[in-house]
Amino acid sequence: MLPTNFSAMFNFEFHFCPRLYRLFFVSLLLVSSLTVFASVSLPGLMPVPAEVHYGTGRFAFTPAWQVAISGHDDPRLRAALARMLRRAEERTGLTFAHLADGEYSFSANVTGASLVVDCVASGAAVPVLGDDESYTLEVTPAQVILHAPTVLGAMHGFETLLQLLQSDATGWFLPAVSIKDQPRFAWRGLMIDVARHWQPMDVVKRNLDGMALVKLNVLHLHLTEDQGIRIESKKFPRLHQLGSDGHFFTQEEMRELIAYATARGIRVVPEFDIPGHATSWVVGYPELASAPGPYAIERKWGVFDPVLDPTNPKVYELLAGFLGEMAALFPDAYIHIGGDENNGVQWNANPAIQTYIRERNLKDNAGLHAEFNMRVHAILAKNGKQLIGWDEILHPDLPAGSVIHSWRGPEGIADATKRGYASILSNGYYIDLCYPTWEHYLNDPVPAGANLSPEQQQHVLGGEATMWAEWVTPETIDSRIWPRTAAIAERLWSPRDVRDVSDMYRRLAVVSRRLEEAGLRHESYLDPALRRLAGDDAKLEEMAALRSFVDLLEPVKKYRRGGQQPAANQFTPLTGLVDCTRPDSAAARAFASQVDVVVFAQSWSELNARPLAQTVLAWKSTAAILTNGLAARSPRLQESLPELQNLTAASEVGQEALQVLASGQVPAAGWMPVQFAKLERAGEAHVAVELPVIVALKLLVAAAAAQDQRAQLSAEAWKQHLLSLVTPIVKPVATP
Ligand code: ACM
Repeated sequence: MLPTNFSAMFNFEFHFCPRLYRLFFVSLLLVSSLTVFASVSLPGLMPVPAEVHYGTGRFAFTPAWQVAISGHDDPRLRAALARMLRRAEERTGLTFAHLADGEYSFSANVTGASLVVDCVASGAAVPVLGDDESYTLEVTPAQVILHAPTVLGAMHGFETLLQLLQSDATGWFLPAVSIKDQPRFAWRGLMIDVARHWQPMDVVKRNLDGMALVKLNVLHLHLTEDQGIRIESKKFPRLHQLGSDGHFFTQEEMRELIAYATARGIRVVPEFDIPGHATSWVVGYPELASAPGPYAIERKWGVFDPVLDPTNPKVYELLAGFLGEMAALFPDAYIHIGGDENNGVQWNANPAIQTYIRERNLKDNAGLHAEFNMRVHAILAKNGKQLIGWDEILHPDLPAGSVIHSWRGPEGIADATKRGYASILSNGYYIDLCYPTWEHYLNDPVPAGANLSPEQQQHVLGGEATMWAEWVTPETIDSRIWPRTAAIAERLWSPRDVRDVSDMYRRLAVVSRRLEEAGLRHESYLDPALRRLAGDDAKLEEMAALRSFVDLLEPVKKYRRGGQQPAANQFTPLTGLVDCTRPDSAAARAFASQVDVVVFAQSWSELNARPLAQTVLAWKSTAAILTNGLAARSPRLQESLPELQNLTAASEVGQEALQVLASGQVPAAGWMPVQFAKLERAGEAHVAVELPVIVALKLLVAAAAAQDQRAQLSAEAWKQHLLSLVTPIVKPVATP
């Protein structure tokens, strides 16, 4: 097996400790520039298969490409094959053999076929937890053979095959390779909150296509929230009629969505968040709340008081009817009942509820919540369903067989599995919080050395990326999900020791393009969005500057956007500057590696510094073009002026540091703190946007200030010295 790439040499473990964080950060900078040419010919497989052995030679991919089905055959397999072949045609521009009715022509001759698909059996018609998803793929110069115990495995094999497809001057080909693959975790999910901002059918479908591409197998739909009920109830129509502004999936549409997911080997797990996060439920049924109504759909973001009244028999009548209806609609064995963030305000203020708690010896609100969960559990069990809920449902009275969905902290998985509950990890996979990809990537449900017994480890089903929708619309949501979720998909599929961050980034750039080809819009949403911000009279040069500017910025992380835009609510258009920036700026990462080359080299080199000098000069020019032109004219872009000032200031510090380095003269004492202070100001967020190049610039300043020591120190000691100078602003980022 070939080494995945050069940077494997730099691999090390990372456990969210400040010192390692610092080391990690810098090593990331150090290796990123080296790996680009070292591994450019390797395919962009993501997730990395369990076993890959590259051979010699290649299978030429030509219009004569033909498939034979040698084992189990069924319409789902045929449809998946047709999708794969169409994507291959679109990518290569080749046209394969089609029949008159448009279907692909399959070969009856196994020995002569280009690709032999050999499935043993269908597998579950609707995917279930624990399905056999394995496959093997053998590419030799003579033939490609895909074996799989089930159609699900074959579908994963098709995705791998498409990811292997490459071209060079001789044409399209698959490299000779032997792959034996199966997932590490059975539960590999993406949660989409379709409730806070409504996300219609086409958004969910294109994201299902993206999920299939990276072998995710659970779509968790967060269907109810304070801000909306997004599913039709025939039994309790006031739920969706009064709680949705008319934006909901009809049951027929949901069946269509489930069929779409099923065809791609993806389970659909619905969430109905109760008893809290339930304002939209009590708009139509105010008598079910724990305080008198009337209620209106919540428009703001946060944690709100309305909560179902667990002492009211009518609540269970509604839940028995509604959940029974949903149990019939959704084929999956699991129903998620939320259970998070009940703030207790309405329960505390209601004397009848507090009396109920006392009389039943329920102890406190948590005891009441636990009793509620037991009753909901009984309803689900009667309908043949298993219960999942967020961390907060963990309680000594929680019935066995329930699943804990961990979101609040790393201890959630340990607590739940210690008590024998199966568990799913989302803490560390909150993609709505705009953290860089590598943080999610290194977040492992069962890290090496985890303090979990073998039995506890068995209870860890996997994980889910969570796309909460306070700050996304159908236009922008893909840019918050992709491509970062592909790295999470790899964490959940690939062996634990696949954790080379720079190779991940190399492959992520490739898979990101494939995701766009599959219909996602995480890149392509941007041009029209920028055009709208710019207004109708923007010049070409200004549009180019605007693109460079937003490429360098990032949305603020964690829950800071609400603090930056406190007046925003469900009606606020999400078409501002921040909505045109994306998490984990590739331009900022590229800049960090340019700095790395300059500051960690043995000595100053004008040649090494040239790309860096060009970059900071380009920033200054970008800022000038926009500040004096477009941003002054366009009402939408005026909000960008403070960040343009930040960019100007950052580029000036960068230029000055480079001049100091070029001069070879150590600046006066006090120069470095002054530059650091300028950088910290330049790093301040405005309109929920920030400039993520501050740490790299600080390294550059530190290298300039301490340059007289460079020749006297070993490479390692010099690196440590620089790191010690920038330490104060490199902080570990806490997960929520
Ligand atoms: C959650 O983020 N409240 C589950």
